[in-house]
Amino acid sequence: MNFHVLTLFPEMIQNGMNTSITGRAINAGILSVEAVNIRDYAFNKHQKVDDYTYGGGAGMLMQAEPVYLAYEAIAQKAGKRPRVVYLTPQGQVFNQQMARDMAKEEDLVFLCGHYEGIDERVLEEIVTDYVSIGDYVLTGGELPAMVMMDSISRMVPGVLSNQESGETESFAGNLLEYPQYSRPEEWHGKKVPEVLMSGHHANIEKWRREQSIIRTAKRRPDLLKKADLTNKEWNFVRQ
Ligand code: ADE
Repeated sequence: MNFHVLTLFPEMIQNGMNTSITGRAINAGILSVEAVNIRDYAFNKHQKVDDYTYGGGAGMLMQAEPVYLAYEAIAQKAGKRPRVVYLTPQGQVFNQQMARDMAKEEDLVFLCGHYEGIDERVLEEIVTDYVSIGDYVLTGGELPAMVMMDSISRMVPGVLSNQESGETESFAGNLLEYPQYSRPEEWHGKKVPEVLMSGHHANIEKWRREQSIIRTAKRRPDLLKKADLTNKEWNFVRQ
C-alpha cells in the first residue's frame, strides 16, 4: 500500500509514520509513505502557496495550482489517478468500516489543508473523499491524515503480526473489547475474575462476550443497534 501525502509540513508526516508498527511495515516494504511538499510546486520565486480570499474575510487560502501540480506529479508517477482524501471537518466522519475499505486501495493520496482551507476549484477537480476525524477543528490536515493512515495500515495484510491481529478487538462486530488482565493475580486489592483462571475455554469465551456487551451498552450504546445480538443477549442488556 502506497500513501502519498500532499502537505506544507512533510517532516511532520515522516516523523509520525516512521515509528512503531507503521515504521516496521515501511521497513518491511509492506507500506510506503511519501510526503510531497506542496511548496515545491509553487509557481513564484518566493515559493508562496497562499493568498487572500475573494470576497474578503479573515485568513489566507491555499491556491489551486500548486496543489494541482503536486497531485498530477503523483498521478504521473503512479501511472493512474489514485483516490484523493481531503481532510476537513466538513467531511464524512471516519470509522472502522472506511478504514477496511480504503485498505484495499493500492495508492491513496491525502490532501492536507492549512490556513483557512484550499481554493474550491482544485478540490472539485481532484478530491474523491471528504473525510473528518471528528466534530472538532484542528489547525491542519496532517494529524487527521496520520490518524487515517495508522488505522488503514492495520487493515493491510502483513502489517500486524498474528498476536496483534485485529479480529477480536473493539469495533469487530460493533462491540467494544472486553476487559483484560495480566500478572499479578491481585493488585491494589482487585482480583482477576475467577473464570479467567479456570482454563475453561467455553466459559471464558462466554464471559468475554457478555463483558463486551455490557461495556458497549454502558459506554457506546449507539453502537449496540448495529451489533448482531441474539434475543437472549438483548434481554441481558435490558436487565
Ligand atoms: N482539519 C481540521 N479539523 C479536522 C478534522 N476534525 N478532521 C479532518 N480534518 C480536519
